[in-house]
Amino acid sequence: MARPQSRYVCQACSEAFLRWEGQCRGCGAWNTLVETVVRDVPAAARAPRAGAEAEAVPLAALADAEVPRLPVGIGELDRVLGGGLVPGSLVLVGGEPGIGKSTLLLQAAAGLAAGGRPVLYASGEESGSQIRLRAGRLGLLAGVAADGVHVLAEHDVARIVEATRAARPAALVVDSIQTATIDELEGPAGSVGQVREAALRLMELAKGEGIAVILVGHVTKEGSIAGPKTLEHLVDAVVSIEGERGGTLRLVRASKNRFGATDEVGVLEMAEGGLREVPDPARAFLVEHPAPAPGSIVAATLEGSRALLVEVQALVAPTGYGTPRRTAIGLDPNRLALLVAVLGRRAGVGLGTHDVYANLAGGISVADPGLDLPLAIALASTLRDRPVLPGTTAFGEVGLLGELRAVGGTERRLREAARLGFARALLPRGRGAPPEVADLEVVPVATVRDALAVALAGPTAPDGPAGRRGAASAAAPRS
Ligand code: TYD
Ligand code: MG
Repeated sequence: MARPQSRYVCQACSEAFLRWEGQCRGCGAWNTLVETVVRDVPAAARAPRAGAEAEAVPLAALADAEVPRLPVGIGELDRVLGGGLVPGSLVLVGGEPGIGKSTLLLQAAAGLAAGGRPVLYASGEESGSQIRLRAGRLGLLAGVAADGVHVLAEHDVARIVEATRAARPAALVVDSIQTATIDELEGPAGSVGQVREAALRLMELAKGEGIAVILVGHVTKEGSIAGPKTLEHLVDAVVSIEGERGGTLRLVRASKNRFGATDEVGVLEMAEGGLREVPDPARAFLVEHPAPAPGSIVAATLEGSRALLVEVQALVAPTGYGTPRRTAIGLDPNRLALLVAVLGRRAGVGLGTHDVYANLAGGISVADPGLDLPLAIALASTLRDRPVLPGTTAFGEVGLLGELRAVGGTERRLREAARLGFARALLPRGRGAPPEVADLEVVPVATVRDALAVALAGPTAPDGPAGRRGAASAAAPRS
C-alpha cells in the first residue's frame, strides 16, 4: 500500500502545496501553511449511508440522554468535569511544564482503576521506569491501580491506537499531545500539523470505541495550549491547571465543557504523595500578614458556585521616564487600565504618572467582575500608603462613572467571608437591602470614592505621605 502523503494546506484559502513556504502563493497570507495528511476517501465512505436518512425530530421527541460518568476519584477534578469523564469524549488537560499534569492524570488513572475501570496511560514524555518512579511516590505500585493502570511508553499515535483497541480500557491518557507523532507527516512532533492530526485520530478512537481519551497539552508562555487553537475547538472539554510553580496550590478549571458547567473550579495541593484535596478551599489562597500592609485587600470572589477569598496586591511607583507601565498578574489588564482611569477621574486617585503593578496572591487568575472594587481599593491604598481597615473584604464591579454595580452571588460571598472571620464587607449598594449575615458588618457603598473613604479610614501608616491628610477622617477600626 502506498504511504499516505502530506500536503501543506493554507488555512486561509485552502490551497495545497507540496512544500512548506512562509507565504501562501495562492492568497499571499503569511505563516498559514499547515502540514496535513491527504486521505484517499474511498467511494463507499463518500456515498450516503444506506438506511440512515437524515431525519429531524421535534425537541420534545429527543431522547433524554442520561450522560454516563466515570468518576476519577479525585473529588475536585470530578467537580470540574461535571461529575466525571464521559465515555467517548476527548478532554484536553493543559498547564505549564512542571505544574503537575502527569501527576494528576496518573492519580486520576488510579482512581478510575479503583472504580473497576482499566486505564491505558501512554506517555511519549517519560520512560516506563520514570513513570514507575512517580507511581512509587504516589503509592500506586500496590493495590488496584497497580493492575488496573497499564503503561505504554510510546509516542506513535498509530501504535497507541492499536494498543488501545487491543486492550479496550475505559480511558486512555496521552501524555502529551505535543510528543505524539503521526508517521505520515514530516514535520516535527509538536508542529501544528502533527498535533492536529494526532488529536483528530485520537478523537476518532474515542468516538468509535466509546473510550474517554485525555490529552495532556503543554501551555506556552503566552498562555495558550501549544499547537493550534483548533485543538481546543476539537475536544469536548478543556481543563487547565494553574498555580505558582514554586507554590503548592493548584487551581483546576474547565474553560470549555460540552458535558458540564465551565465555571466550577477545583483546588488541590501538591504534596509529597501527589496532589490532594485542600480542607478549606475558600481560604486556601489567603495569605496571613503579620501587620496590615498598604496595597493589599482580600477580595471575595466567586468562581462558579464556589466563593474564593483571594488577596489582591497592588504596588505603584512614579514612572522614571517614558510611558507608565501597567502590569497585571492573574487579573485582566484591561480592567486594570480602566480602573486606573476611573480612579483618576472619579476618585481623586491620580496614577497617570505612576507605574502600576497588580497581582493576585497564590498564582491564580480570576476573571470575576467583582474583583474591580478590591483592586481599586488596593491601588488607592498603595498610592496613599494607607493600609486597608483590618478584617475588611470587598467585591463589586466598577463602572466608568465610578459607580458600583452589583455582581452575582452576593449572599454566598458574604457568608464565606463571615465564616473565614472577616469583620466587614464592602459591596455595591443595590436596590434592595443587603442580606444580613451573622458576625459580619455589611457596608453598602454607591461609588468608588465612598468605598475608599470607608476602606482606608484606619489609622495612617507610621510615616506614610498621607499622614496628616487622612487623620481627620481616621476612625478606630472596629473589632
Ligand atoms: P509533573 O506531574 O511531572 O508535571 P507536568 O506533567 O505538568 O510537567 O509534576 C512535576 C512536579 O510535581 C515536580 O516538580 C515534582 C512535583 N511532585 C510533588 O511535589 N509530589 C509528588 O508526589 C509528585 C509525583 C510530584
Ligand atoms: Mg508531565
